[in-house]
Amino acid sequence: MSNYHIKHLEEYYQVYRKSVRNPEVFWEEIAEEHFMWRKKWDNVLSWDFTKPEVKWFEGAKLNITENCIDRHIYTRGDKTAIIFEPNNPNEDAQHITYRQLHDKVCRFANVLKEKGIGKGDRVCIYLPMIPELAISVLACARIGAIHSVVFAGFSSSALATRVKDCDAKMVITSDGSYRGSKTIDLKGIVDDALNDCEGVESVLVAKRIHSEINMKEGRDHWLEPLLEEAYHDCVPEIMDAEDPLFILYTSGSTGQPKGMVHSSGGYMVYTGYTFKNVFQYRENDIYWCTADIGWITGHSYIVYGPLANGATTVMFEGVPSYPDYGRFWQIVEKHKVTQFYTAPTAIRALAKEGVEHVENHDLSSLKVLGTVGEPINEEAWHWYDDNIGKRKAPIVDTWWQTETGGIMITPIPFATPTKPTYATLPFIGIQPALMDEQGQEIKGNQVDGRLCIKFPWPSMARTIWGNHQRYKDTYFSAFENKYFTGDGALRDEVGYYRITGRVDDVVIVSGHNLGTAPIEDAINEHPAVSESAIVGFPHDIKGNALYGYVILKETGESRNHDNLRKEINQLITEQIGPIAKLDKIQFTSGLPKTRSGKIMRRILRKIASNDTANLGDTSTLLNPDCVQEIMDGVL
Ligand code: PRX
Repeated sequence: MSNYHIKHLEEYYQVYRKSVRNPEVFWEEIAEEHFMWRKKWDNVLSWDFTKPEVKWFEGAKLNITENCIDRHIYTRGDKTAIIFEPNNPNEDAQHITYRQLHDKVCRFANVLKEKGIGKGDRVCIYLPMIPELAISVLACARIGAIHSVVFAGFSSSALATRVKDCDAKMVITSDGSYRGSKTIDLKGIVDDALNDCEGVESVLVAKRIHSEINMKEGRDHWLEPLLEEAYHDCVPEIMDAEDPLFILYTSGSTGQPKGMVHSSGGYMVYTGYTFKNVFQYRENDIYWCTADIGWITGHSYIVYGPLANGATTVMFEGVPSYPDYGRFWQIVEKHKVTQFYTAPTAIRALAKEGVEHVENHDLSSLKVLGTVGEPINEEAWHWYDDNIGKRKAPIVDTWWQTETGGIMITPIPFATPTKPTYATLPFIGIQPALMDEQGQEIKGNQVDGRLCIKFPWPSMARTIWGNHQRYKDTYFSAFENKYFTGDGALRDEVGYYRITGRVDDVVIVSGHNLGTAPIEDAINEHPAVSESAIVGFPHDIKGNALYGYVILKETGESRNHDNLRKEINQLITEQIGPIAKLDKIQFTSGLPKTRSGKIMRRILRKIASNDTANLGDTSTLLNPDCVQEIMDGVL
């Protein structure tokens, strides 16, 4: 029996049982048989969730790029590793073979070295979805530099916060980016951000839109001439399994984003193993994940997981609506995509435009469909199943997080019977637990609670960059000896999990994880604002949208509320990015607070969602009168 490729439900249960009964033996076999190590480990796993400290494959030596590139050259050197599909359908796609990828990554790695980057240095990557993004990520990994990719939709101030937090020595960007019919001045955003970041010594600039940009003498360098001159081979830096591979920021409950640190060895093993099984990847398949590499989904399931398996992975630069709403399906047809992985928000947006955009495309190549990022509602699930998979391609609803590094709860296609809106069963090696508010594990089925994981898995984040205490407080303090996910979940009568949503102050908007605190901080910077509270409310396309309750310093007619709303959204755009803009802003004279002064978001959430039948007992609030005022003014 092969543990590596699971083919039916019975096999899943067999392998699952083995993986949880003896995790060390299980993961050692996977790591040994399917990956390339320069030196084997001394110890498979050591862990202590109270510190918290987790080490996988301690003592092992490797370079992840040897696993993702070099070893494939002998067996599939001329196979396409990356298909780049540009924003504009009239521009040719690029097919980069494994051999070419090796050349490109090595040259890029040599450029990094020449610019003074070495093992352990942080490099911030702020690029659109062009091949240079994947190549620069791999080039960092080649020389042991720690990459920190920042999604190129973030504002200059969000970029500056991230560059400073990890003390990056270099930023890699482009002259601009294409997004549908628009172009975006990425280099200008970087310039603004760097006004405030003294540690950055150099900026590498890829050419994409050929716009006139400002190049700062001594700091900024065009990438192409450097790559041309660079040597085409680069000996990989040999890393310890526990050396950091990358930092990726995610929202938290305070204004400062959390730089999740991922390891080299465990991350590789888990993303490689999950990729193969969750997508049932076979040698000649063409796999496409529509995420951006600026998010964890892109790191694990566009770059590392697929390449570790020698797969062909599609990178799409554009958006689903350009030049029309059939763009995704046109790409599926053009490249004969076999596995397609996207977010519920994209499915809902495309479903709304009607099936006519689907019908004129041949989607018969599709074997497996995936979703990630937020709960998928039943209607969207069926639309996807009926119109895209034609009820023949199973849908894998994959639950996981930036922090988990890889997919945690998911069906295995053709093995696990799917159930709409359910992420179904834990992946091999994953031990979930549902907890009640008293901190007790809720056993049995047909129960719901807070979702925790009670045993380590190889790709879990090891710490928060520069703040281990926050890592402990956020994930390991709510429930003793368990990793707390921040999500609620239910377990049905057969043990299938359904994720019910965040139970903390994070709102998922269009699949983007947004902390309410940083948005409130941005709003409160407006000179007219004294206090604010943000909550999510249901939205047909985005899953959730943001609703802001704002108290002004001076009430009355002196300020035009529509102008204020625009200014507030402008501030949010500048500080965080357009994805965090509020759909609704209600001005109020008070916010419901507990006697200890904590805002009762539960009440605000219900009012924003028009669900006021059962607000609960509001009489114990510090200021119960404001509840009626807010209900009367609801938008
Ligand atoms: O609330 C869960 C939701 O997205 C959160 C993690 O967000 P992020 O770190 O940005 O990573 C997203 C991509 C892995 C989770 O805590 N989430 C993710 N996938 C699902 C989901 N909610 C329901 N169903 C999912 N399949």
